[in-house]
Amino acid sequence: MLLALPPNQNGYAICLRTISFLCSLGLTLGLDSVDVDAAAVAELLEEVEDMVVWCMVTLRNVYHEAFFSSRCARVSIVVVVTIWTRNSAPASRWRPTIRARTEINGEKYETDSWFNVPPNIIDKVPRRLHLQKDHPVYITRQIIESVFPPPTYKYHNDFNPVVTTHQNFDSLGFPKDHPGRAKSDTYYVNSNTLLRTHTSAHQAETFGANLSAGYLISADVYRRDEVDRSHYPIFHQMEGAHSWDRTKVPNGDVAAAVWSDLEKLPKHNIEVQDPNPPFHHERNPLQERHHSAAEAEAIAAHLKRSLELMVVEIFTRAKAAAKKADPNFVDEPLQVRWVEAYFPFTSPSWELEVYYDGDWLECLGCGVVKQDLYINAGVPNQLGWAFGIGLDRIAMLLFKIPDIRLFWSQDERFLKQFTGVSDNLDSLRRFTPFSKYPGCYKDVSFWLGSTDFHENDVMEIVRSIAGDSVEDVKLFDHFTHPKTGRKSLCYRINYRSLERTLTNAVTNDLHSQVTEALVEKLGVEIR
Ligand SMILES: *[C@@H]1O[C@H](CO)[C@@H](O)[C@H](O)[C@H]1NC(C)=O
Repeated sequence: MLLALPPNQNGYAICLRTISFLCSLGLTLGLDSVDVDAAAVAELLEEVEDMVVWCMVTLRNVYHEAFFSSRCARVSIVVVVTIWTRNSAPASRWRPTIRARTEINGEKYETDSWFNVPPNIIDKVPRRLHLQKDHPVYITRQIIESVFPPPTYKYHNDFNPVVTTHQNFDSLGFPKDHPGRAKSDTYYVNSNTLLRTHTSAHQAETFGANLSAGYLISADVYRRDEVDRSHYPIFHQMEGAHSWDRTKVPNGDVAAAVWSDLEKLPKHNIEVQDPNPPFHHERNPLQERHHSAAEAEAIAAHLKRSLELMVVEIFTRAKAAAKKADPNFVDEPLQVRWVEAYFPFTSPSWELEVYYDGDWLECLGCGVVKQDLYINAGVPNQLGWAFGIGLDRIAMLLFKIPDIRLFWSQDERFLKQFTGVSDNLDSLRRFTPFSKYPGCYKDVSFWLGSTDFHENDVMEIVRSIAGDSVEDVKLFDHFTHPKTGRKSLCYRINYRSLERTLTNAVTNDLHSQVTEALVEKLGVEIR
């Protein structure tokens, strides 16, 4: 239809205004982001005909008076009248095909009603702290990698964080109704694209590519979650695996090959508590259909030694740093213990705990890889072990970093403290906190509206407005009205910046923005 307009400046001006009008309309229609660039304009022009008609009819019905007084709308009327008379397009032909897009790491993605990634998350995707030299997360990755040397282990550190629902869930056998798939827990770009929630999103492809016997994948992962000093919506995971191929080991004897590889691993001299049998038919079953007892036992032994060596490396360094910082640090011998566990991708499974600085700390999860993962990855003759570890938590222990938000700080007072450590791991020292700025609590109480409510939505709203100026958000009271049955919640938000003092004016302003957004986005009623 726009071809019908004279191809002069006036014609283009009308087009552009119509487009901007439509974009603003797109926003009020509930699309979160309408990003129109040159290429998108071209596509938009194809769609504009049907849409303008639909918009005009709707708006004319809804906003009769206001509509006709709007300048933007008047311009559009000209267009619509032109279309209408030329094509007599019925309003029902309009389909909601506006191309809403977002850009992540320089790549464009089409969004739809599933899109729920706020700008503050998108902005941080390119940061990739695990690849930022001298950053505590990078240093932690380096320390772990040093225990799993190439060529046995290949490192994959730059897989794209934008993955398909198939990669993140289906390839791992997540049921369709698994809670992890919910929009309240996961950042979706569109209905079948998301920001990976774990490194395992790349497991099937990595097994299938069969580039090396072992691998380590380190990656930024994304989850909608609570706000406190140990949770951040972006964190870093490392996953490792070692596989053996039945058709390649001498005489097809996997167990013998695994034991022989175990002999080649270094030894350590820390105390290990491992009271349970290698598998237990009820608590921690062997995959009987796929593995012999001897195979599972050998793989478990190789797994345990490998991960014990990793933990020794990490905590020996943590102890050295602690002793440098604190002459009174009590130098107790390290101990580790194996605890039976359940994970969806392994069986049998364990957690490894470490006794460090007076506490048993849960360090990682691991086990014998479920054979279906190898089968689905197209390498059915392989079998082996895998583990997963959270790099941020380990880095917080290693450097004694009190608040996970610090990892995202670009304040020199933070970053400078680690300069040179990547090139000389022995120079690792604990973080020295710079001053602790005053915090300020604010409460917000509200009645829930009729729409579905999920606590992560409150967290997300607070974080998208106050960013890293909020230390934690806690539900501290709730109440159900005895007569009406209405439910009310009260959240306490602790505003505190790691880098400066927040003035009252700033805190009040943040808090009133949060309050308004809760009303607007969640339909709650402030008490
Ligand atoms: C995997 O790689 C190994 C070593 O290169 C090779 O011997 C084996 O045949 C490969 N397996 C598959 C299923 O491609």
